Amino acid sequence: MSLVGSSDVRALVTGGAGFVGTNLADRLLSAGGRVTILDNLSRPGVEHNLRWLQDKHGDAVAVEVADLRDRAALRRCLAGCSQVFHLAAQVAVTTSLDDPTFDFEVNLQGTIGLLEEIRRLSNPPGVLFTSTNKVYGSLSDVDLIEGPTSYAPADEKVAAAGIDELRPLRFCSPYGCSKGGADQYVLDYCASFGLETVVFRMSCIYGPHQFGTEDQGWVAHFLIQALKDEAVTIYGDGKQVRDVLYVDDLVEAMLLAQARIGDLKGRAFNIGGGPRNTLSLLRLIDQITEMTGEPPPLEFEGWRAGDQRYYVSDTSRFEAATGWSPRISAAEGVERLYLWLRELSPARSSFAGRVAS
Ligand SMILES: NC(=O)c1ccc[n+]([C@@H]2O[C@H](COP(=O)([O-])OP(=O)(O)OC[C@H]3O[C@@H](n4cnc5c(N)ncnc54)[C@H](O)[C@@H]3O)[C@@H](O)[C@H]2O)c1
Repeated sequence: MSLVGSSDVRALVTGGAGFVGTNLADRLLSAGGRVTILDNLSRPGVEHNLRWLQDKHGDAVAVEVADLRDRAALRRCLAGCSQVFHLAAQVAVTTSLDDPTFDFEVNLQGTIGLLEEIRRLSNPPGVLFTSTNKVYGSLSDVDLIEGPTSYAPADEKVAAAGIDELRPLRFCSPYGCSKGGADQYVLDYCASFGLETVVFRMSCIYGPHQFGTEDQGWVAHFLIQALKDEAVTIYGDGKQVRDVLYVDDLVEAMLLAQARIGDLKGRAFNIGGGPRNTLSLLRLIDQITEMTGEPPPLEFEGWRAGDQRYYVSDTSRFEAATGWSPRISAAEGVERLYLWLRELSPARSSFAGRVAS
């Protein structure tokens, strides 16, 4: 079923040259929609994504190379839009610790500026905001059982279903605070001003066009390191567990959320691969070893601030509301990403240039 796909949809994708944004824009454009991308190209490598989209879709993609905080640029981009996907962000906990003011200005003030520009429109578009599981904090109260390669919750219900949206918010790290604050503003602009807004609290997303680094995008980062024959640094013991969601499944969920925004507005949903698609860092290393025939060199460092030992999304709320569920297993998705990255690797210099951190 095509949920978008008509030329009457014009979507604004902030951060549209990034990993998720490129996959989303490609899907919208391939289905016949029109897309405006607003991106300041601050993330190294994303200029390749933008070029790829422009080569593939030509004039159907309009591009504004600008900062999210540029209100005049936002105004230009919003003209005629029927949907907004707000993805542009300072995306890493580590860099938010280095410069909390910058993180705040981009993630929180930038989001409020966007909401204000949308609020002044006579026919405001629906807004989907990409928040994060970090809004639930370190989850240190979830009792865990330590296995040989991963942690598992002691509570059978949590182990079977994951973490749901009833979990109290506990912002942690500047990134958690700025994304969490933005998450709450986006929801409140529905309650206070009647905008049609939905929030996705996303776990680990992975897939093609992801130039993962040590700071963000660990699945892609581990694969890139392995392809470059360089060491992977594991912070902590490597047994920390995440549910992983292949980007095509996320894009499907995003399109569903916009298509059903009249029913879903004002709600936040946990979105990830769920309990059937989990990986620990060590289990990903095992899969890489199987694919490449040799284990990548490993280095271990201390735990990073705010790192959750276990986070798995309970996606049943969104599933019940829309019928969505993840289709691509972690094993299949990781192999797909590996093959995509390997395609880039024969031209070593180009590969190294694209994935340089
Ligand atoms: N990838 C994940 O696993 C994950 C998990 C949870 C939440 N998220 C959220 O999803 C969104 C997309 O993540 P991604 O993985 O595609 O990240 P990404 O870094 O690949 O994409 C973000 C894009 O935003 C752009 N950008 C950054 N600051 C900007 C600014 N001030 N003005 C304009 N553009 C700016 C960057 O150049 C980049 O192209 C982010 O909001 C992120 O916080 C991602």
